[in-house]
Amino acid sequence: MTRPVKHAKNDKAVFYCTACGNEQPRWFGHCPRCGEWNTAAEAPPAGAAKGGAARRPGPKRWVPAGAERPAGPAPLAHVEVESAERARTGMRELDRVLGGGLVPGSLLLVGGDPGIGKSTLLLQLAMALAREGRRLLYVSGEESEQQIRLRASRLGEVPESLLLLCETDLEAVLESAASVQPDAMVVDSIQTLSRSDLEGGPGTVTQVRECGLALLHYAKGSHTPVFLVGHVTKDGAVAGPRVLEHMVDAVLYLEGERYQHYRVLRAAKNRFGSTNELGVFEMLDSGLREVANPSEAFLSEGLRSEPGTAVVASLEGSRPLLVEVQALVSTSFYGTPQRVTSGLDPRRLAVLLAVLERRVGLRLGRHDVFVTVTGGLKLDDPGTDLGVALAIASSFRSRPMLERTIALGEVSLSGELRRVARLDARLREAAQLGFRRAGFPRAQAADAEGCGLEAVPLATVREAFEALLGERVAPPRPEGGSAREPRAEAPAGRERERP
Ligand code: TYD
Ligand code: MG
Repeated sequence: MTRPVKHAKNDKAVFYCTACGNEQPRWFGHCPRCGEWNTAAEAPPAGAAKGGAARRPGPKRWVPAGAERPAGPAPLAHVEVESAERARTGMRELDRVLGGGLVPGSLLLVGGDPGIGKSTLLLQLAMALAREGRRLLYVSGEESEQQIRLRASRLGEVPESLLLLCETDLEAVLESAASVQPDAMVVDSIQTLSRSDLEGGPGTVTQVRECGLALLHYAKGSHTPVFLVGHVTKDGAVAGPRVLEHMVDAVLYLEGERYQHYRVLRAAKNRFGSTNELGVFEMLDSGLREVANPSEAFLSEGLRSEPGTAVVASLEGSRPLLVEVQALVSTSFYGTPQRVTSGLDPRRLAVLLAVLERRVGLRLGRHDVFVTVTGGLKLDDPGTDLGVALAIASSFRSRPMLERTIALGEVSLSGELRRVARLDARLREAAQLGFRRAGFPRAQAADAEGCGLEAVPLATVREAFEALLGERVAPPRPEGGSAREPRAEAPAGRERERP
C-alpha cells in the first residue's frame, strides 16, 4: 500500500479503518482499535467536498415530516408516542425475524454472500407490500430495469404501486423519494450509491458511510422504512465501515449453502426485537418460499437411524428446530488427522472429541472426523452437544442411534450433561414429528413430563452412549447386503409422511 499524501493541516481524521470504521488523524498499518492490519483507507474529512466547500445534503437532524424541531432537551415523559404500529410485511418468516413487522422509520441492512438471494428477497418483499396497496420504491444500482422486470415476473404478478428506479446517485435517489413519498423503500445496494460531491467512488468507506447517514436521515425524517442491501466481505462482515452496522436499526443476514436450496434469515442486531429469531426460506424457480415447518425440511432422510446420524433439537429464538447431524469417522492416513465441519464450530468439535476420548474411552485420536449439519444450518446452541457427540460415537462404533430417538444436553468437560434451555418445547416438537424416545439431562426430568416421549434421563455422555446407541452393525458390504439395515423396531404409531 502506498502512503497517501497528507491533507491540509486543519483537516481532521483523514484515515479510516475499513474493518471497524475507526478514525485516525494519521495513516496506520495496524488499527489501534480492532487490531487489523492494512485496513487504513484514506478518506476526506466528514462532509468535505470536492473543491473544498463542505456541504451535506438534507437536514442535519431528523425531524418528523412537518413537525417543529424541539428547542432543546425536553422531559422524556413528555415525548408523545405516535402509535408505532408495525406493518406486517406479508412474509411471515420475515416478520418473525423483524420482531413482529416493520417499524415506521426503521433503517434495515440486509447482508449476505453474492448470489444468496438478497435482491430476490427484497423484491419479493416489495411486491408483497405493494400488493397490499402500499407505494414502494425499489432503487437498484446493480441491475437494469429489464433484468429486474424479468425477475419480478418470475416472482408473480407485478403490482402497479411498485416503482422502480435504476440509479446510483444519492441525491437523485433522495429527490425521487421526496417526490414519490413511498411507504417503504429498498436500496440495492448501498455499495453502489455515491454522493457526487464527495471524493472517492461508490463503495469506498466515506461514500458508504455518508450515503448510509443520508438514508438514515431520510428514514427517520419521513417515517419511511428503508431496506439497504449490503455486500459482505470474504470473512462475512458487511463491506464498508462497521459504522454502517452501528447506524442501522437492524442487521439481517441471509445465509445458506449456495448449492443447497434452504436460506436462513437471521438478525445480527435488532433494535425492535430479539436477535435469536430465524426465518427459513427455500429458493425455488419462483423465488423464495417460506418454509412453514423447517424441522421437517431439515430432517433429510426421515426417521430411519443410520450409523453416524443423530437428530438434534436446536433452539432458534422462540422456535425449536429439528436438524440432522451426520458424522463420519474413518482411519486417518495422515500424521495429523483431519477434522472437518460444516455448520459447526470446529473448536466445539475439538472439545466433544476430547470428551469422547477421555470420558467415554473412544480412541478417536488417529481418525479423521467429518461432521455436517444438514440443510446448511449453523448450530451454535450448546443443547445440541450431546446429539453431535452421539453422531460421532455412532459412526465410530458403527452403531446407529435407537430408532426415533432424540438426545439433548450440553456436554461439560467432565463428561456430565448440563441443562438445556426450554427442554419441554424441544421435546414437544420432537414428539410432533414422530419421535418416541428422548435422552436428556437427569436434572431436567421434571421438565420432560407430559411431552409424549419415553424419557431417558441421563447423567453423563457415557450413560447416553450406553443407553441410546443400538447394536453394532457390520460395515456395509460391497454387494449391498442386509448388514447395513438398522435394528428392526416395532412400527411406530405415527409415521411421518414425506412429500
Ligand atoms: P439474487 O437475489 O440475485 O442474489 P443476491 O442479490 O444476494 O446477489 O439471487 C440470485 C440467485 O437466486 C441466482 O443464482 C438465481 C437464484 N434464483 C432462483 O433460484 N429463483 C428465482 O426465482 C430467482 C429470482 C433467483
Ligand atoms: Mg443482488
